[in-house]
Order: sequence, then structure tokens, then C-alpha cells
Amino acid sequence: MPNAAADAPQADFSSAQIARFFAAESQRFRATHPRCAALHAQAQRHFLFGVPMHWMADTPAPFPLFVDAAQGARLVDADGHEIIDFCLGDTGAMFGHSPAPIARTLAEFGAQGATTMLPSAVALEVAALLEARFGLPMWQFTATASDANRFLLRWARAITGRPCILVFHGCYHGTVDDTFIDLAEGGGTRMRASLLGQVHDLTPTTRVVEFNDSAALEAALAPGDVACVLTEPVLTNIGMVLPEPGFLQTLRALTRRHGTLLAFDETHTISCGPGGYTRADGLGACRTLGVESENVPQRGQFLPDSPPHGATMGQEAGKKWAAAAHSQPTIPKSDRLLEPDMLVLGKPIAGGTPGAAYGFSAEVGARMQAVKAAAAPGHSGIGTTLSAGLLTLRLMRTMLAEVMDGPAYARMFTTATRVAEGLQAQIAARALPWSVTRIGARCEVQFRPTPPRNGSEARAAFRNDLEAALQLALLNRGVLLTPFHNMVLACPAHTAQDADTLVAAFADALDGLAGA
Ligand SMILES: Cc1ncc(COP(=O)(O)O)c(C=O)c1O
Repeated sequence: MPNAAADAPQADFSSAQIARFFAAESQRFRATHPRCAALHAQAQRHFLFGVPMHWMADTPAPFPLFVDAAQGARLVDADGHEIIDFCLGDTGAMFGHSPAPIARTLAEFGAQGATTMLPSAVALEVAALLEARFGLPMWQFTATASDANRFLLRWARAITGRPCILVFHGCYHGTVDDTFIDLAEGGGTRMRASLLGQVHDLTPTTRVVEFNDSAALEAALAPGDVACVLTEPVLTNIGMVLPEPGFLQTLRALTRRHGTLLAFDETHTISCGPGGYTRADGLGACRTLGVESENVPQRGQFLPDSPPHGATMGQEAGKKWAAAAHSQPTIPKSDRLLEPDMLVLGKPIAGGTPGAAYGFSAEVGARMQAVKAAAAPGHSGIGTTLSAGLLTLRLMRTMLAEVMDGPAYARMFTTATRVAEGLQAQIAARALPWSVTRIGARCEVQFRPTPPRNGSEARAAFRNDLEAALQLALLNRGVLLTPFHNMVLACPAHTAQDADTLVAAFADALDGLAGA
């Protein structure tokens, strides 16, 4: 049942206060970023909205921050300011900008060819590393996570012969048109109004239900025409929505019962542990990689006296994941309750360069091979030329074997915990009706007193003006958050001091808002 008290309108800052504060912060940004302003003015000639990818204009600042360089947890903007980066390219740089092993790999292999459209031995090494972490034996590579999701859905429809897919309300899986469907207010579903240039009505073949709604899920799967459920294990693109206890297990059981494939998109939730959320929330399967499944999500408000996550991480400090890949014991079936049929990874896994992967079970792989073998020769609609390139795979090997390790996750969780506790303390000190939720290295401030249970609740808590004012104020104080929501990402290079700087900037911004 919805909590009526939690859903009631809350008083914090008035629209007028927010507008006054935002105007002052905008003025401050203009005054301190003359070169960014000049570059943006010049860029209008070449680029849509003056930016090389149109989303880059979606910033609360009067014009975008132009970046000169990025290293570790720091950016340097075109005006020479050093900024602590808690956006991390929206997960693309989840493990910091240009970690040393990635810079070394580029220097070592940059002259040995980037792409050949041929297989390589390094591909096998990467697959072994991926299997060790995620438990799925078979893999294909793509240039982006969007592509991985798109191709995965195509395979799912091809091998099941079913037309429909199912996603959860408020999801985001990249530029995959089939997933741009929402629940409509009066019932039914509708294409997302923001989707450009799609002339086909995709609502007949995409079902949408609320996250955490097992009954609706069961009803939607019952007709037996859903090829695949595609979901993040935690919704991270509409604020953050945690799965209620048992929901993912129910999802797994229902998809099995109805012959529907289950695909987890771990593009963002790879920040929850070396095996993503799937392994972090299974029955301790992360232990097989020497990392306790300790990073279970924080439910409810973040309590300052919660034990710091990550304290038990990294017992096998220094051990390379390559070794783990080869000594990986078979994971008992009982530990694989969340075991998806398919799984997507992207963004950081090639060191922040384009590269993504999707994995699947041997049974799904056999069905894919059968359907491809039986198809007419020619273009399958799956795959792109620059996928699985030599350099990309070498970068993935480096990330998996040397960067995305237990000690790195331990540092990330420690920082994220410090941030979450600090933000929560500032919110509590001012009795603001907001909540902070953390999973692994990621935390989110949401403008409602309790974390949302589904996409509708999360969306109802959006406050664009307040979010923009806070984000711009943080940027003026040397801290960058992800522009689309109040998400903080912690990388291994962040320090306790960085976390404290973020919290102090947040506190200063709240004081500024209160006084505006
Ligand atoms: C969960 C999830 N999946 C897939 C994607 C798509 O990633 P990309 O834009 O790199 O294709 C995103 C992008 O934010 C995402 O959040």
C-alpha cells in the first residue's frame, strides 16, 4: 500500500527561493567561466545547441562546461578550474578517468591495430574473465550498451518466436526504441513523448508494468507472448528504485514459468560489485571471487550509524582477476537465484572507450546458433563493424584483470558511504523531507522522505528547478554531479576529503537556498 504520509506534498524551499538562488548561481557561473562561454558561442556554428552531442547541452549551467582534461577523480575545465568529478561520465569512467593500466595498455597496444573484423586470443581471455564474474559462459561484443540491449532483444525475439518484450515503467536502456514505452496516466501504455523520429507504434509489442509489482508482471507474462523481460536489477535512471525483498527472485521464477527470457542490464549496476548487482544480491556468489556479498542495498533512509560498506571487501587484495577466472569453481545452483538468461555490460568496461558486451547461458547460445543457422544468408541486423575490435578487447582485459578489482570496489564503497552519510546528516539537520539511497558505489538524493517503490513514485518526486539549482551550486563549488538526476558516483581515486568537499558544498548550497 502506498504510504500516504510519504506521498503528501512536502515543504522545503519555495519556487521563488529556488529561482532567486538559481539566478545568483547562474551569474556566478558566467563570471567564472568566460572561456567556456566563448567556446560555446563559437560552437553554435558546428554543433546542435553548440555541443558535439546534443545531450551535452542538458546542463543546469547557462552554458556547458567545456573540459580540457580528466584524470582519476578530477576534471580540468577550459577556464582552468579543477573539479571533483562525481558524475564520471554517467558511469563511463566509473573506475576513474584514465586509470594507469588503461593508459599503459593504450601505449603498449595502440600501434598494434585497433580493428580487424577477425577473432583474437584476447577475446577468449576476456570471455573467461567475464564468465568468472557473471557466471554466464557465452558472450558477444558490441560498441555500446544501447547496441547490446538492441541486439539482445532481437535475439530473444528470434529464438522464442514471440513478438513482445516487457520493461518496467521509468526504465532506460539506451537508444532502444522498443523500451521507450511508459505506462499512460489513464491506463495502458504510450510511446515516450520525447522519442524523436519513430514513425511506428511500438506499444503493441512492448508491455510495461511497475517495478516491484509482481501481480502486474504475472498478468503481463501470462499470455505467453513475451520473449524477454529487460530490466536493470535496480532502476537507476529515474532516480533510484530498489527491488523490494524477493522481487527479483519472483521475476526470475515468473519468467521461467512463462518461458520468457530474463535479461539484466548491468550497465550502471556494475558499480555494485565485481559481478554486478546480480551477484551482489544472489546468495553470496560474490564470495567465490574473494569479495563478500556485503554491498547489499541500503533500504529506507540512510542511517548515519550504518556499518560502512566495503569494510570486508578486497580480502584477496592484489590478486588479479585473471587468476580468479581460471580458478573459478562452479557456482552451485542454489547460489544462482538471480541467474539471468542474458546480461548486458557497457560504459566502463573498455576503460571509457566504446565497448560493451552481452552474455548468455549455453542453452540460449545454442538456440541462437540454431536460429542463425536456419536463417537465410545475409544481414542479421545484429552486430556492427567496430564491435569486438582488438584494441577494445585489450582494454576490456585490462579493466577486468587489473582495474575493476576488489580493492577498487572497497575504496568506491567507502567513499560512497561517506557521501551518503554526510548528505543524509545535512538533510536531517535541516529536517528536509528528502531521502538518500545507496547501492555499492552509487547514491542518490530524492526529494521524498522515503525511497520510491516504483517508477511512478520516483518520477513524482522530480523537482527540476530544485535539482538544477543544487547541481549548479555544487558545480560553482567545484563538484560535478550527473546532470539528469541527483546521482553521486564514487570511483577508486576519490578520497575521504573529496567526499567531505561534496558534503560541505551541499550544505553550503542548502544554506544558500534557505537564505535566498
Ligand atoms: C541501464 C543503461 N543501459 C544502457 C545504457 C546505454 O548506454 P550507452 O549510451 O553507452 O549505449 C544506459 C545509458 O545511460 C543505461 O543507463
